[in-house]
Amino acid sequence: MSRQLRSAFGHYATGVTVITTRGAAGEPVGITANSFSSLSLDPPLVLWSIAHTSSNYEAFRAAGCFAVHVLHAGQGELARVFSTRNIDRFAGVPTSAGASGAPLLPDFHARFDCETHAQYEGGDHLIIVGRVLAVEERAGVPLLFYRGRFAAVAEPPAAV
Ligand SMILES: Cc1cc2nc3c(=O)[nH]c(=O)nc-3n(C[C@H](O)[C@H](O)[C@H](O)COP(=O)(O)O)c2cc1C
Repeated sequence: MSRQLRSAFGHYATGVTVITTRGAAGEPVGITANSFSSLSLDPPLVLWSIAHTSSNYEAFRAAGCFAVHVLHAGQGELARVFSTRNIDRFAGVPTSAGASGAPLLPDFHARFDCETHAQYEGGDHLIIVGRVLAVEERAGVPLLFYRGRFAAVAEPPAAV
């Protein structure tokens, strides 16, 4: 069931994000996530979920803030770095402090700086809801994830 379920979940094409926050010692932490979704316009809310088994689980559970970076088509390598264990994911990646306190990455397709609004248990994941404090967007083409692979669409995406 679980292999079949994972495979079927993979048929849902998504964008790709890198979500950042600060750990207990103030160090930047970040993770590649495709569970991101818009949730509410008023109030402005987004959500995503993190696996209980993630090495970053405790940091995101305890954090009062996080920043979501929606990646553009040229950021496949960054997505790989932020999903790889036992490396310094922030090596060579400059950060600045957002209004929320979360570390902001300079390169993105869209960026949502959030304070943690609510958390809910969801099976083997923790669902994290954020209230958006600041948002930025840039022109370009999004990075996509489909059936286990990164992909990009030719610009402009064809209407169907
Ligand atoms: C495209 C993609 C999307 C991912 N989405 C999520 C996600 O939404 N939530 C999550 O907990 N892990 C997600 N992961 C896995 C994490 O990025 C990471 O690889 C995994 O949690 C192991 O590293 P960690 O223990 O440091 O978190 C995703 C990985 C990839 C490549």
